[in-house]
Amino acid sequence: MTVQPDSNETLDSLYGMTPEEARRCQEHLMIGGGTRGGPVLHHGEGVRVWDVDGKEYIDCTSQSWALYLGYCSREIWETVDQHASRLTHVHQGFDTLPRFALAKRIAGVAPAGMNRVSFVPTSALALEGAMKLALKNRPGSANFVCLWDSYHGTTLGTMGASWIATRSNGRYVGGSRFLPLTKQCVRAPNPYCYRCYFGQKPESCDLMCAKMLDLTMQKSVNGPPAGLLFEPLQASGGQIIFPRRYVEAVREICDRYEVPLIFDEIQTFIRIGKWTAAEFYGVTPEFIALGKAVGGGLPLGVTIVKDGLTGYDPDAEELHTFANNTLSQVASLKLLQIIERDGVLDNVNRMGAYLNEGLLRLQREFPEMGDIRQVGLHIGVEFVKDPEGKEPLETETKRIRDEGIRRGVIFGLAGVRGNLLKIKPPLVIRQDECDEVLRLLGESLRAVLR
Ligand SMILES: Cc1ncc(COP(=O)(O)O)c(C=O)c1O
Repeated sequence: MTVQPDSNETLDSLYGMTPEEARRCQEHLMIGGGTRGGPVLHHGEGVRVWDVDGKEYIDCTSQSWALYLGYCSREIWETVDQHASRLTHVHQGFDTLPRFALAKRIAGVAPAGMNRVSFVPTSALALEGAMKLALKNRPGSANFVCLWDSYHGTTLGTMGASWIATRSNGRYVGGSRFLPLTKQCVRAPNPYCYRCYFGQKPESCDLMCAKMLDLTMQKSVNGPPAGLLFEPLQASGGQIIFPRRYVEAVREICDRYEVPLIFDEIQTFIRIGKWTAAEFYGVTPEFIALGKAVGGGLPLGVTIVKDGLTGYDPDAEELHTFANNTLSQVASLKLLQIIERDGVLDNVNRMGAYLNEGLLRLQREFPEMGDIRQVGLHIGVEFVKDPEGKEPLETETKRIRDEGIRRGVIFGLAGVRGNLLKIKPPLVIRQDECDEVLRLLGESLRAVLR
């Protein structure tokens, strides 16, 4: 593929940079996170991206899981381009037609009885919006409950609920350095069935983790809990899929203690093969936070609120300069239209199942693939030394990722123990592209494990 942007002085000089000029620019950059050391990206199309040296990759990270239609979706960018000559940034105090239309559209894909939405500039702010509203609806409350190994962002409001603020990975990192402003959460055990903390087997499990959540609500929180921050499928913590009856039990516990349930659907929205995880589990929370892909590749966060709850008062409870970005809104509208028109949810379910079968075939050759966890295109593989001992294979997992990059496929690397490979490609991936991913993964596994 060749990229032929119209001649543009700024872009021409940017992409005409020599490697030495690029290196000197890089010296001014400060980065606070992310798996570094990958290629310098140049351009992309669909599931593929090319680096500055012209090397091609299939991207199974969708760039922080955010590009549902892949790189440079022509339809989205044409819509944005056309709209940009009409309106771009608008202050939150002014109404626009894109904002009206998107509010209705999002309410249309949210569970029944969740009809009000608030727009913010990005994902973690959508969650903080839910936290604000939970506090308003739970007078006298000050502390939230979250789960072990959850990840909800790195703003000061969400960081204390993210596993990076604890000793989960064997050392204190990231969020643990900002404790004076991140102390608003207590944690309850997550249902990590592959390594059940209570030694239970799935066949005979009596949901000790839900019982612990119940006790946490009763005994661990000063005053009434303000809300439960909850990823219905833990992504960064290890692609951990929660059993349906656990999620149902969580709803029941929150009802019993009148604790607002906040679904962090920043990663699950559409990617798990249903519009929302609320729909997937048949459980309706009080709040849903959306982010990442919802803006069609542009920054956007959305807080969805259950009917009947107290919402915002218009006296600066939630006010952001870029909360009404019309370009993100039209990109989001186009994304949602394409998802529906092209049956993308169906593709998510079919390609997810196809990848899962391929991974199970590879697992026969590589028992180090201890657990394969797949729902839609939300896929993780946990690597262990041997299936019985389950000792995490951290170094090798990183090497498998590096081998993948060398061969032309980019996987995510995550999990609290660093032994999880994430396979979360754009939702439009085709079967032949899945075959390529599986082939390159197989080669990478052979290179590292045999
Ligand atoms: C489940 C979940 N919640 C919240 C966030 C925070 O999103 P952002 O970094 O876009 O604010 C992330 C980001 O990875 C996430 O995965």
